[in-house]
Amino acid sequence: MKKTCLLLILFFTTICNLKADEGMWILSLIGKNYNQMKALGFKLTPEDLYNLNQPSLKDAVVALNHGECTAEFVSNQGLLFTNHHCGYDDIQSQSSVYHDYLTNGFCAKNLKEELPIYGKTVSLLESITDVTEKIIPQNADKMSALERQQQIENNIEELSSTYEEQGYYVTIDNFFNGNYYYLSKYKVYKDVRLVFAPPEAIGNFGGETDNWVWPRHSVDFCMFRVYCAPDGSPADYSENNIPFTPKKYLTINASGVKEGDFSMIIGFPGETYRHNSVAEINQTINCDNKCCIEALDLVLKQMKNFMDKNDTIRIQYASKYATLYNTYKYSVGCNKCFETKNIIENKTQLENELTKWINDNNKTEYKNIVNSLKKDYKKDYKNNFYYCNWVYSLYMGCEFIEFGHSLYDYYYNLLLNNQTEIDKSIQKLKTKYHNYFNNYNKKVDYEISSKMLNYYFNKVPKKYWPKGISNVPEFYDDLKTRINNSILTDEKSFNNILEHPSYIAFQQDKLFDLSKEILYATTKMYNSDKFDANFEYHKYLYTKAKQEMLLSKNPDTLLYYDANSTMRLTYGKVCGYKYNNKDMGWYTTFDSFINKKNNNDKEFYVSEKLENLYLSKDYGQYSEPDGTIRVCYLTDNDITGGNSGSGCLNANGQLVGLAFDGNWEAMSSDYMFEPEITRTICVDIRFILFIIDKYSKADNILNELTIVWN
Ligand code: ARG
Repeated sequence: MKKTCLLLILFFTTICNLKADEGMWILSLIGKNYNQMKALGFKLTPEDLYNLNQPSLKDAVVALNHGECTAEFVSNQGLLFTNHHCGYDDIQSQSSVYHDYLTNGFCAKNLKEELPIYGKTVSLLESITDVTEKIIPQNADKMSALERQQQIENNIEELSSTYEEQGYYVTIDNFFNGNYYYLSKYKVYKDVRLVFAPPEAIGNFGGETDNWVWPRHSVDFCMFRVYCAPDGSPADYSENNIPFTPKKYLTINASGVKEGDFSMIIGFPGETYRHNSVAEINQTINCDNKCCIEALDLVLKQMKNFMDKNDTIRIQYASKYATLYNTYKYSVGCNKCFETKNIIENKTQLENELTKWINDNNKTEYKNIVNSLKKDYKKDYKNNFYYCNWVYSLYMGCEFIEFGHSLYDYYYNLLLNNQTEIDKSIQKLKTKYHNYFNNYNKKVDYEISSKMLNYYFNKVPKKYWPKGISNVPEFYDDLKTRINNSILTDEKSFNNILEHPSYIAFQQDKLFDLSKEILYATTKMYNSDKFDANFEYHKYLYTKAKQEMLLSKNPDTLLYYDANSTMRLTYGKVCGYKYNNKDMGWYTTFDSFINKKNNNDKEFYVSEKLENLYLSKDYGQYSEPDGTIRVCYLTDNDITGGNSGSGCLNANGQLVGLAFDGNWEAMSSDYMFEPEITRTICVDIRFILFIIDKYSKADNILNELTIVWN
């Protein structure tokens, strides 16, 4: 009896010490986590996750637009699930006041009705391999920081080009601030079509108010299909293309999740900063985030004003608004967490430990590394402040500037008269900006840009202003004329310059000229290459030292790398959290969804159709035994932006939900994972099926899915 008790205690302490929830792991190296995963309930093997010789789960998971979001195959006909907010831009670009798919949703009843989305790409990972030895030069320690950096960049370019010649899209990514390099090889599919989107009032229920917040009721999903050439290879859109057959697609398990169930998520997390130095984090909080909050607040208020007054503008700007608001609210939440939590104190403590370890062990190669980084950031602060103001007020605030910059390559190739490159630029622009003018309004751009330029002029010294500009009323009159007469603001002129390439036309365009000057203004803010290389080298040493210290203290420590848009896996369990002694629960229901209804507020609008469905209680097989139906649930998985749209998988690798957000109390999770409160918000797959089935009656889609009930 006693013995059993002791064993049980031992068992539970092991589980508690696992801290398995934190970490974004590389799939090909997951073997070292396998025991932890099994202890949490994982039923598959590492080879089921990543296998180069036969289909594995990695083949079912794809990156949208090179890592903007994640999606997963759910049929052998290339059907994908992702988040509504990952398709928002596409749904919106297909919408107008006449067929408003944002408001009403979209459902293709057959392949013919699916809507091609120009510019959308789907990347399938073939393999990820450690290429550190090929990238960091052998004699790197004898080189200057600048030489080292240049050699690394050359090696990256050389190695990538070998694979690119073979038709792959390749990224060589830096891990642990340049301590390791991994090469990811992708096939990129470009014929992607919209299949299904719920109405915005369902897919984005709660809107910006609920964004980043739990409890949540957004049914954040939509569906695309990947098409390929008849031989299965990637191809540009064509009527002759056929639905793509993936090596692997996910089975859906609709039996529901329980608290404590094993949960894993495979996706493409974008960026985290867990290993950053305190100096860098301080700069992010006090400079980057503050600039972002102040400038975007101004941009968003103006945009909203225009949107509220005019339905066409509302649709045109819906996606831009949501994207900017998401960034803005992220920074607000992040800084709030830094104000109220001891994150900086914790990290400073670790840095003090590091300095002590370096000194105690006489690690001369790392001597003064913490201080060197501090000095670097101090030196960089002002320039970073100007640059951040440039980014948030001009680049993000003024549409013509961002658009102007995207034409810069084309302009430059025209200047060099390089025909091959000119053709490539035209192709790129045609695909990427296919729908640009549908969502552009000169007046909105002029009004917001003139405010934001004025804002910038007040923040940043004259030497960083675009050439020949002064902050006087005449400049704003002139800006209006420039906006009214430009390739950047008129669809016909833009198409014309793609059909009839002309360097002169660019040269004569005064708005393009302004956008160019604005870009040049930033080059004056940059420090020298030498400064940058030293900076990078210090970060490299800092992270190297930290890693060495942690491993020397405990050789069994499992270290994971910060997110960098490479494919990762996070595992943990379904679980809720407590905040300020309040139980926040771990799932939401249709009842609490309907309780939030407020038809005077667009964000909480519930249509009659949905409400009738609620009242009918006709939830089919998707309900709980007690007759309720669940909408969202929580896990302690470790995700970040880019993971959006990732499937939440059960112990058998079956799809049980879609990850779509994080919670407000843990907005600083990109810097520090707090096991007690950092949570991933997922939509329950059963509510998604309920919408497809009972709300949209999309039997064609339902029949294509493989659904199991146990
Ligand atoms: N916070 C989510 C993310 O960054 C995006 C949610 C989109 N919804 C919205 N209402 N803006 O992935």
